[in-house]
Amino acid sequence: MGNVIAVDSISKLVTDARKEIQGARSSAELDQLETKILGKRSLLAMAHRELGELDLEQRKEHGRQLHEARQAIEKIIEDKRADVSKREREQRLIAERVDLSEVITDEVRSTIGRGKLHVVTQTCDTLVDVFVGMGFVVEEGPEAETDWYNFEALNMPPAHPARSMWDTFYLELGEPESVVLRTHTSPVQIRLMEEAARKSSLPIHAVMPGRCYRTETPDARHLAVFHQIEGLVVDEAITFGDLAGTIETFTRAYFGDGIHSRLRPSYFPFTEPSAEFEITCTICRGDGCRTCSGTGWIELGGCGLVDPAVFDAVGIDSEEWSGFAFGFGIDRCAQMHYQIADMRSLTENDLRFMRRF
Ligand code: PHE
Repeated sequence: MGNVIAVDSISKLVTDARKEIQGARSSAELDQLETKILGKRSLLAMAHRELGELDLEQRKEHGRQLHEARQAIEKIIEDKRADVSKREREQRLIAERVDLSEVITDEVRSTIGRGKLHVVTQTCDTLVDVFVGMGFVVEEGPEAETDWYNFEALNMPPAHPARSMWDTFYLELGEPESVVLRTHTSPVQIRLMEEAARKSSLPIHAVMPGRCYRTETPDARHLAVFHQIEGLVVDEAITFGDLAGTIETFTRAYFGDGIHSRLRPSYFPFTEPSAEFEITCTICRGDGCRTCSGTGWIELGGCGLVDPAVFDAVGIDSEEWSGFAFGFGIDRCAQMHYQIADMRSLTENDLRFMRRF
């Protein structure tokens, strides 16, 4: 069996390898070449394995040359690799460059598309803008609440039957206190009033948007995870007229001309008197249709004057202060504003739907 590589062709091996390596255009290509030229199945490796068949003198000489050839090729690869990765890095930097001053033209935009805020977020932002324009500040509270904030301070002691008005997710049951996923944004009222009582910083004019949870089976008009915005005013000599006026002003500002509000007697443990707040049906604009069951009105939320028992729970003197509160669904608002037939579309992330807004 003859030698794979004759001594005099070793230098040719290095020359050929250099040519091939110089032609490599990426690190991946270079890795492949390295395996081909220096790997276990390369000519060089085979020649090395055949050294054993040579006599001592030849073996020494041939072995030395093979070793030198390998070293030379390794060096060529190493230099080339440094060169290629430098170039790759430069190209990556150029490709990933972010020009913060870049103006995206409509033409570019139409090819790459652009992300935007979810319709519920857009609706929430607009609602907040309307209320800020009316002089309210914006506050937030936690989504996991203790029993005290979600129920008890809102005038619902343990076992109060009104608790069943909210289908509740319990995170922790019992001692020292149950923890729930808030079923409405009303617990944020309690937090604000406690803080204002502690700091003597009344009056309060605040809206509180946020996510709420109920163990409901989602349908065309309900979600188990949904959003509400709560309003709270605590000031001197607040009347039901202030509440009705605020709700009507908001309705006109958000829904536009031709849409009005009305209040109908209702019950919430934390307001007295309490009312349901309805707006003109935005589908039929009051004529009566299937969505509003022919009444011309759609229920949006609840409201009322803050119950003195709630003022007692948070340490505000109800002889000196009075207030109103309201709360309504942001998702429901989006549904009415954009005439979304099925509220479940809001959570399905179907791009054909999302792109409408
Ligand atoms: N928290 C009530 C609900 O979710 C709505 C409400 C808020 C009612 C404020 C009165 C006052 O059903």
